[in-house]
Amino acid sequence: MSDRYAVFGNPIAHSKSPQIHQQFALQEHADIEYERIYAEIGAFDEAAHRFFAEGGLGANITVPFKIDAYHFVDEHSERAKAAGAVNTIIPLGGGKFLGDNSDGVGLVQDITRIRNIPLEGKKILILGAGGAVRGVVPVLLAENPAQLVISNRTDSKATDIAAAFGVEALPLAQLPAAHFDIVINGTSGGLSQQLPDVAAGVFQNCTLAYDMVYGSGAETFLQFARQSGARQTADGLGMLIGQAAFSYQLWRGFQPDIRPVFAYMKEHV
Ligand code: ATR
Repeated sequence: MSDRYAVFGNPIAHSKSPQIHQQFALQEHADIEYERIYAEIGAFDEAAHRFFAEGGLGANITVPFKIDAYHFVDEHSERAKAAGAVNTIIPLGGGKFLGDNSDGVGLVQDITRIRNIPLEGKKILILGAGGAVRGVVPVLLAENPAQLVISNRTDSKATDIAAAFGVEALPLAQLPAAHFDIVINGTSGGLSQQLPDVAAGVFQNCTLAYDMVYGSGAETFLQFARQSGARQTADGLGMLIGQAAFSYQLWRGFQPDIRPVFAYMKEHV
């Protein structure tokens, strides 16, 4: 029988995770089954218990269940604690579970391994201050950037996250022009074609503008960044693949090479 994994979400039909994990399994010469599981809001625990009772060996968790998953597990990795959210569940045996968070690792792996841009010594700006941003800040910091600034429409939320991690927060209107090497959009505005209110000058001299969302939801921001001088742009497909790879490694101890999977997904999916 194949080793069983799954991703839980609502909605979930669009998820690319099954194709990505099957590419990792090909690299490992392993036989895995990776399914999408739709759970009703409020019914995550029941769905997860059923999956693991039936022999599931690991799960990914996506919107809107990352906080439910945080409460579902018995133990948390430092990454999950810092993020306050769990996107990877690892069974520990005896009905106990460990929760981890591979989103930040996925972002860093994409920028450093797929784009080949080191983060060490760079000046990084992150737009947004929701759950998605909280999860990636500690992992970005571990790369030793020269500076990490958080800026958000609701300034107090940026100030809270910045204080929690010992970095700077600046109001959107006070961001310096031609200063940042890397600008990361971690807001959910792109999903409704909305841009954070950031001046074009912020993208002058910018090596990489990155949107943590993938596909059409990233286009409004990336187009604005390109027009405003960003030399390179990327949506979150590589981050999705990077987080999947780190989850796969947590479950199976095998570290997939994300670069060929990125090329495959761009071409085929
Ligand atoms: P997620 O889990 O995706 O981070 P979230 O916690 O709801 O979702 O956070 C969404 C983030 O996107 C917030 O930083 C939000 O800004 P506010 O804190 O001011 O609400 C930001 N956001 C959403 N829509 C936006 C828009 N149209 N313009 C600018 N920022 C937006």
